[in-house]
Amino acid sequence: MKNNNHIRRTTLLCFILVLLSFTLLTQCKREKEVLVADTPRNGIILGFSQIGAESSWRKRNTQSIVEAAEESHIQLLFDNAEQKQENQIKAMRSFIAYQVDVIAFVPIVATGWDNILQEAKDAGIPVLVTDRKIETANENLYAGFIGTDSEREGRDAAQFILDKFSQIENRPIRIIEISGTEGSSVALGRAAGFRQGLDDHPEFEIIHSESGDFLRSKGYEIMSRILKEFDDIDAIYSHNDGMTLGIIDAMYERDLQPGSDIVIVTIDAEQAAIEALRRGEVNCVIECNPNTGPAIMELTKKLARGESIPRFQHVDEEVFYETDDLSSLEPRGY
Ligand code: AHR
Repeated sequence: MKNNNHIRRTTLLCFILVLLSFTLLTQCKREKEVLVADTPRNGIILGFSQIGAESSWRKRNTQSIVEAAEESHIQLLFDNAEQKQENQIKAMRSFIAYQVDVIAFVPIVATGWDNILQEAKDAGIPVLVTDRKIETANENLYAGFIGTDSEREGRDAAQFILDKFSQIENRPIRIIEISGTEGSSVALGRAAGFRQGLDDHPEFEIIHSESGDFLRSKGYEIMSRILKEFDDIDAIYSHNDGMTLGIIDAMYERDLQPGSDIVIVTIDAEQAAIEALRRGEVNCVIECNPNTGPAIMELTKKLARGESIPRFQHVDEEVFYETDDLSSLEPRGY
């Protein structure tokens, strides 16, 4: 009995010691050599700061990154910033302390990154900007960008509206814009591209523009109010599908038929927006491609090897129109 107790005590002690050393090994700021030994062969560690989960598009973007990291045997330290720039900066600071090989991040807004990027540069860690762009005083603070071309998306939206109303000559065309998160490069780019597209056509008037923060609930709220405040709206330009779905709900509540009483152009190409296009509730869907995970991992590998990468890489994207035959379109996955 005494002997048995002794064995049990020794086993427990050994277990605690193993647990303690494992905890210390994983929690302490570790040397890269140690990490290489206990991670998959390529031994690359990527710190990724995502902005949150505000839309189906964003959830798919996260899924693409997580899946691609696993397939590429890249160890991913992932942080969800819950829509706060300060949380992104904190996460990036902890990636630097952890001595990751590469940092990638989706900047929630375009400005305010120079200090943290300088800290990463001082620590010798290359930074990849993805999905949204940044404005910086020193372009050398980050290695490159991969993501959408939001100005092109805005120009495509304008072109669709110009074509759609090309037969109407005797009156102004009244457009409402529901934009994305204020200060984000995608909202700025989508707004700028749209205005560039309408530039030589003063008869196309943006009578109101307001941010819905890329949220379905805000799209609904804003549209419910707008329908009381404005008459004779010809078209809605919505910066994302989530807000568009809210806009559609608000229109039905007022007995308006989306897509015919008011023309709708939307960005993202989520499955729900494609379904709305098929039903005629939306007239044009501009794709914003969230499946950037594999390309991000390829760029991460290059950066970890000390190679340079292209400054700007825009992902492939399509535009879907109400006149398209969508019968063979694959499910979107988001
Ligand atoms: O930055 C990309 C945008 O962010 C997508 O259009 C939108 O849906 C999202 O949440």
